[in-house]
Amino acid sequence: MISTITKTMTSTPTAPGRPTGNGAVAATPSDRLAGDKRYKIIEATMRRYGYQGHGLIEALHSAQEAFGYLDDFTLKHISRTLHLPPSKVFGVATFYNLFTLKPQGAHTCVVCLGTACYIKGAREVLAAIEGEYDVKAGGTTRDSQLSLLTARCFGSCALAPVITFDGETIGKVTPTAVAQQIAQRLAAVQQAR
Ligand code: FES
Repeated sequence: MISTITKTMTSTPTAPGRPTGNGAVAATPSDRLAGDKRYKIIEATMRRYGYQGHGLIEALHSAQEAFGYLDDFTLKHISRTLHLPPSKVFGVATFYNLFTLKPQGAHTCVVCLGTACYIKGAREVLAAIEGEYDVKAGGTTRDSQLSLLTARCFGSCALAPVITFDGETIGKVTPTAVAQQIAQRLAAVQQAR
């Protein structure tokens, strides 16, 4: 996966500032950096670490918090600013489950696939959610309501198998009941609006 992403990253970028097909002029990278204040937050984090490579994780955290996910442009920007190879930045971003490279849905369900949960049937739980919501782990449902992620351990192994829904820990889930537990929470959130 990392090699695929790295390949994407090192491919020739679209020429900035050139006319688009409809006659408009595409924004340049510097336009985007200057026009979006969220990049200032990331910049502040990188500055705090002296623009050194050891600030990478914190920079990725800032970017994920600011944008909800890490897109190609932002990862390249961090790579350039911290003078790190693109492969290193993408490698870290794809290694940790707390980072995501895709836009997130309105709600997030994370299935723990750590050892304790795995032994207690986390794979089957994940498969049940994937089947019910027609989404694969790492993806978001077509209506953008639910993102499905996996993690290695939440530190709640006594409750295995464990999932979280919007940060709420739900333990001892089963493949037969988990979809309904998620549906109830989705419905409750919608009713509360
Ligand atoms: S392995 Fe799942 S919570 Fe620890």
